Amino acid sequence: MTFRQIAQFLNPAQKLPKEAEKPPASTGCLAGSVEETRRSPAPEEPAAGVGGGSPPLEGGGYKSSWNRTSMTIAGAFAAVDGSPDEEVLRLHGAYMADMIAAALLVSETDRVLEIGCGVGRLGRELAPRCGRWIGADISENMIAIARERTQHLPNVEFTALTRTALDAFPDNSLDKVYSHAVFIHLDKVDLFLYLQEIARVLRPGGLFYFDTWNLADEVGWKRWLIEVNQPPDPNQPWRKDPLSNQFSVPAEIGLYLKHAGLCELLLTSDSFWIQTVATKATGLAPSAIESLRERVERNRPRIVPTPIFRELFAAQVEFMTGRLSPAEAYRHLSQMPDSREVTLYRTWLERLWQLNQTQWGPYPPK
Ligand SMILES: C[S@@+](CC[C@H](N)C(=O)[O-])C[C@H]1O[C@@H](n2cnc3c(N)ncnc32)[C@H](O)[C@@H]1O
Repeated sequence: MTFRQIAQFLNPAQKLPKEAEKPPASTGCLAGSVEETRRSPAPEEPAAGVGGGSPPLEGGGYKSSWNRTSMTIAGAFAAVDGSPDEEVLRLHGAYMADMIAAALLVSETDRVLEIGCGVGRLGRELAPRCGRWIGADISENMIAIARERTQHLPNVEFTALTRTALDAFPDNSLDKVYSHAVFIHLDKVDLFLYLQEIARVLRPGGLFYFDTWNLADEVGWKRWLIEVNQPPDPNQPWRKDPLSNQFSVPAEIGLYLKHAGLCELLLTSDSFWIQTVATKATGLAPSAIESLRERVERNRPRIVPTPIFRELFAAQVEFMTGRLSPAEAYRHLSQMPDSREVTLYRTWLERLWQLNQTQWGPYPPK
């Protein structure tokens, strides 16, 4: 779901925390390929709309665009996962955090980095399970909200990023790195530059998780058509809207990992997401890599979307494209047996309904 589609149902009312109101300041591994292709990240971008000349480089505009969406708390929530309020955000965050903890075999001594941490939806839930949790994001506004939401946690820190650089992190300094629902927004070159950076900062044997949209899946394809049919945002000066979604096929992601110097342990292709877990294999014995692969593989059922989650997501795509009315979505949910996923989607629809009662009528519908 895109920010613009969700935003039409949400009322950006809440203000940002004070500080953020200011303007935004065998294994299949190719060891040795990293340095050859690494290049300097792009310099700090100009603010969107500045200059009024020709559109800036493809892939630019992340910082200004994401800062603009997160000028208010409601705008930021809509942009990270379409949550209408804190409760839905927490339900969704806890669900996804379980998935990431399973993928990364998170332990209580781990030093964990999230790239594109947004409002700390996942970090708030993961930090209590690891030694240190570091949230990095391109948007200072997102970070300000995340800081506020995690202020009760003693082991969190934040860092603001430029386009694709992880300069703040020394080589081999992190046990786990992940990025959920972020690389879907990146230009492919930026995605690859980040993978190279991750291969640098991860310690040998450390784990990395990320996901992106799967074009080879039927629902993934329908989701892609939403982007295709979305009229261009007239307020967006970039040729590619930095908030729009990118899609891939599994083999492509496998290639990026390999050439970035990361060793693939898991690459799923059976849902609307491509999900991958990789390690830095430098100096590791083949038996150590195999053992990691087996441990991650054992967690596969907790990593890939459950059948019920897939069904609900498919319905959400129908809902967002107007093929399923709010009342039909409600009836669909009411007929499903209780589960964590149904609670999550039911709470989401109920809160969205409250914001749109004038158009949708009373809740629950007759
Ligand atoms: C859809 S949100 C997901 C946030 C968070 N990962 C979650 O799942 O709740 C995407 C996030 O990626 C951040 N982002 C976008 N482009 C980025 C980039 N080039 N580098 C780092 N973060 C980026 C945005 O500011 C935003 O917070």
